[in-house]
Amino acid sequence: MFTQNLDFKTTDLDTFPFPFRSDNYRYSNDLRKLEDVNLVTITPEYEMQVRAKRRLLDEQPEVRYQSFPHTMEMQWEFLEMVFEMAIQKYPQHFELHKDGDEWTFKNNILDEQQTFTFGDASTLPYEPYDFAGRHFHQDFVLMVHRDDNYYLEVGQVSYAALFSAHWNTGMSFNEIHGPVPFVSRNGDDLVDRIRRFLLGINPGEPWTRINWNLMADRWDVNYETMDVWEPQRKLVTAENAGKLVRLRVEEQKFYRMPRSNAILFVLNTQFLPLEDLKLRQEWFDLTYSVLQDIPEPMAEYKGIAPFLPQSVEFLRREDEKLKAQGGA
Ligand code: HEM
Repeated sequence: MFTQNLDFKTTDLDTFPFPFRSDNYRYSNDLRKLEDVNLVTITPEYEMQVRAKRRLLDEQPEVRYQSFPHTMEMQWEFLEMVFEMAIQKYPQHFELHKDGDEWTFKNNILDEQQTFTFGDASTLPYEPYDFAGRHFHQDFVLMVHRDDNYYLEVGQVSYAALFSAHWNTGMSFNEIHGPVPFVSRNGDDLVDRIRRFLLGINPGEPWTRINWNLMADRWDVNYETMDVWEPQRKLVTAENAGKLVRLRVEEQKFYRMPRSNAILFVLNTQFLPLEDLKLRQEWFDLTYSVLQDIPEPMAEYKGIAPFLPQSVEFLRREDEKLKAQGGA
């Protein structure tokens, strides 16, 4: 059983990672060096999103959190990294007191405090990675480096687009991207090129990219609940698309972990209803243009084919209205 309230959307547009830079979109190696290397961010929706994330984790624990038993040391490395980042950036919101291996972490926004022994998982209510991740609104995926590839060995995923810890744990980078119609503008197959690029990431020099999708009346879709969300996509019309369809954007970050050599993959997922695009004319124009030009395999793969025409029609009508107002 799981629930989804649709009361969440990005309200601070200045922090919305708008995805489009030109008026058409194709897959590419679009990684850029990350400027602010600290992954912790407190948005106006922080508390709502963290509570929703925890609720989803509790409702579907097997689907949304998975780890291999041998990852414990890496999990502590992750906990230490995110807690240190949190206190560095937001000392008013987070505190970490260390007395040898006896640590106390405080989250002042949620009014929570936990004392535990660093390195002893039995002193925490969840595994260290799961516990630490529940204090931040992002999804966290640990890709372990082996045989020139990366393997998904720990995942805490609550805002998934065709993704789940349950479905993807144990898969390599290449296997995970198997279903993606991953060709660039000039027809190159991108999976191996990007995997090689990831092998070169250095500790302390993370990279970032933005991924996007459209969601019909939901904030995540995974294979395990396809029977629930699949029929909902057919309820979208040009009249209700402005509210029901959301531009769903993942700001992704990739960190090389200095001790384990794994890649930590962090996803900050934000949502903007199509009707809110009008708040920024440039975003409206780019999105309207990009959505008219999505190649069919990409629309099928992203799962947006059943409601893309209605979404474009909604934008076309809005565009007409805006032009009429502008010309009046
Ligand atoms: C290393 C960590 C990464 C993980 C764990 C990961 C995971 C995933 C997953 C689970 C999917 C959905 C696959 C499915 O449909 O079954 C996906 C899609 C995709 N990934 Fe990755 N990915 C990673 C890195 C990257 C990088 C570095 C890039 C590009 C530079 C990339 C580009 C894409 C693209 C373009 C898609 C298709 C998404 C769409 O069109 O909506 N991924 N990835």
